[in-house]
Amino acid sequence: MAFKRTSSKIIKDHKKLSFDYVPKELPNRDKQIQRLFTLFKGVVDSDISQNAFLHGSVGTGKTATAKRFCMDFKNYAHDEGKKLEYVFVNCRRSSNNGQVMWKIISNFDKGFPDRGFSVGEMMEILNKHIKKKGVHLIVILDEVDVLIKKEGSELIYLFSRFDDESLTPKGSVSLMLISQKNALEFLEEGALSSFKRGNRVNFPKYDSDELYDILDQRNRLALYPDSIGDEELKLLSDIASKRGDARLGIELMEKSALLSEEKGEDKVDAEGIRRAKAEVDPHFTENRIRSLNNQERVILLAATRRLKNKAYTTTGDLEEQYKITAEEYGISPLGHTQFWKYIKSLTKEGLLDSKTVSIGSGRTTKITVSDIPAKVLESKLETMIEG
Ligand SMILES: Nc1ncnc2c1ncn2[C@@H]1O[C@H](COP(=O)(O)OP(=O)(O)OP(=O)(O)O)[C@@H](O)[C@H]1O
Ligand SMILES: [Mg+2]
Repeated sequence: MAFKRTSSKIIKDHKKLSFDYVPKELPNRDKQIQRLFTLFKGVVDSDISQNAFLHGSVGTGKTATAKRFCMDFKNYAHDEGKKLEYVFVNCRRSSNNGQVMWKIISNFDKGFPDRGFSVGEMMEILNKHIKKKGVHLIVILDEVDVLIKKEGSELIYLFSRFDDESLTPKGSVSLMLISQKNALEFLEEGALSSFKRGNRVNFPKYDSDELYDILDQRNRLALYPDSIGDEELKLLSDIASKRGDARLGIELMEKSALLSEEKGEDKVDAEGIRRAKAEVDPHFTENRIRSLNNQERVILLAATRRLKNKAYTTTGDLEEQYKITAEEYGISPLGHTQFWKYIKSLTKEGLLDSKTVSIGSGRTTKITVSDIPAKVLESKLETMIEG
């Protein structure tokens, strides 16, 4: 079968949308990076070992920050005349102590056999490599809760005691643990006592403005100029901010760009974003509109009509459209107070999304639909409204 070749009109550089890509700058993570620097500075300045625990919910930039920090910190160490290396291990992929150790040693010895050595023996081998190369090694254990759950705290204990037997008190291994859950709670006393509890770096959920900065940067890196408008970028940020999750935002950006390209378009519009949301994270069910009363359905229908070609409408515009739509179905329109009450309940139900923004000296409420394309919702509602 011959594929129809389509040239990319929206995506300029696809790999910059992949989860493995780490941008040079991470907007809104300066505080965390600076804190890591404060913690790890002594590794370079005073040859000590350090540890840190990076903690926060899904998509808050823990992995990206750890990687960015280590890349930059390696250069910093180099400039200061110190040899520093880091090894990144995802404990979901390497989920037992032996696999983790193998991954770390492979960093020094590419052909190291993946069986035949105990964890203790591998610690010895690692020690020799480190001494021979004269480096300080930062071991990053990402999603460490998976490892601790399966294997207990042995490995963390061994690493935190790594230099205890050497005669020269020079730290050669530092640990960076990353987890969504509070992994420290699962550590046994021995490991916990050598792990500095204060060295915790928190990653709060991103709000919509922070996600906007992140998505705007990704847009410039990965998409052609002007292929996504400012309002559409705000819509993406608002949707992702419900979970505070940058990964969801980037995933929706990629998906909506691909869906739009597939249709031969050269821009991502609001409908494309809603379509992507419906595919990536299906949230919309018919039952949710079945349980609405007739007036609520008419309000929602009016919203879909205003939103087919744009990201947001305002309450004023929506009320106007609602009156027209009610008339179309021969239904007498609600008064303003009642209309407003329904807007609130539809928002609470999650069928509409609303946010108050300031425009000049005043304030207005912007309204959108985010779980389903307005056009699709429109045709569903049209069959349901009783005139
Ligand atoms: N501040 C930021 N600036 C730019 N990109 C970011 C930022 N924070 C997160 N990202 C991007 O968002 C995605 C998710 O981030 P990351 O993988 O670091 O999250 P995480 O906290 O490790 O999530 P999880 O707990 O699910 O592993 C990645 O593609 C990452 O590059
Ligand atoms: Mg991660």
